[in-house]
Amino acid sequence: MSQSNKVSIIGAGNVGSIVGYSLAMQGLAHEIVLVDRDVDRAKGKALDMSHAASAIRSHSIVKAAESYDDVGDSKVVVITAGFPRKPGMSREDLLFKNAEIMIEVVEKVKKVAPDSILVVVTNPLDAMTYTALRASGFERERVIGMAGILDSARMAYFIYEKLGYGAGQIRASVIGGHGDFMVPLPRYSTVAGVPLSDLLTQKEIDEVVERTKKAGAEIVGYLKTGSAYFAPGKSTAIMVEAILKDSKQIFPCATYLEGEYGYSHVVNGVPVMLGRNGAEKIIEVTLDHCEKELFRRSIQSVKEMIELLDKKFFS
Ligand code: APR
Repeated sequence: MSQSNKVSIIGAGNVGSIVGYSLAMQGLAHEIVLVDRDVDRAKGKALDMSHAASAIRSHSIVKAAESYDDVGDSKVVVITAGFPRKPGMSREDLLFKNAEIMIEVVEKVKKVAPDSILVVVTNPLDAMTYTALRASGFERERVIGMAGILDSARMAYFIYEKLGYGAGQIRASVIGGHGDFMVPLPRYSTVAGVPLSDLLTQKEIDEVVERTKKAGAEIVGYLKTGSAYFAPGKSTAIMVEAILKDSKQIFPCATYLEGEYGYSHVVNGVPVMLGRNGAEKIIEVTLDHCEKELFRRSIQSVKEMIELLDKKFFS
């Protein structure tokens, strides 16, 4: 197992910057490398982040890559490169455009960092995680998508908004694909251990679920020229932290299923245990009839994208 604590971030845009900044502020990675096809963007942000790290006397060094050689020996490679969703654009519209970028990036990464763990952030998330898996040829433990931590955090916040108390004590649970078919699990959501159903009416819970599903679009609607980045960036940094620290904590992440939950040849969000080897264990949660149906639909929507990707890129 590589002892490296180096993290590379491909795509130094909005999300990539927050990932880099969060990691630099934590001082977890000894070296953080920013890669962007706009090298000056990576250089400017790396310099700015290095100054911030210096201000807090962090030992993390942030560098911009001149070429992919600088990604060598990375323990974790975060991939945010791609086009963000514009207002009115579905995640599916992005499929082929971002798949081409993902394949190009992963082919370069695997040459210089063949033992790294890939954390995929580019949307459409589940399909891009699948693309990275196929393009890398890595075992599934080492190719993980970020979505569940973000969606769960969003749901927890909306629960707080309904209640008006309990911030920081809310554990919300969301599995399934990232997007319209995510599967929020109010049955497994609690406030300081109290089940949600003891605190909110079914109508209020349904409203929380709906708002969670549309949270990304709600933010796009406000920002107009881009999509969310603070929570996506921080959620990604949480995954990187768990891997670097070998914390063995459980987080909902997008992973390739090989029979778990009754599905194969598909990526979907499920609870996984993160450690130095990546997604070291997949946890199977008991789902009731309704939740199983929502999960089936989520699987179906990702399978449709995977079929298109297989036909175009991986046949
Ligand atoms: N190689 C390297 N960098 C690239 C490439 C490439 N082939 N293609 C694009 N990029 C870079 C862009 O130059 C840009 O700096 O990726 C960065 C993307 O950043 P933003 O446009 O700011 O997008 P961001 O909001 O960070 O979202 C990135 O994460 O949450 C998802 O839906 C979101 O897919 C999107 C991704």
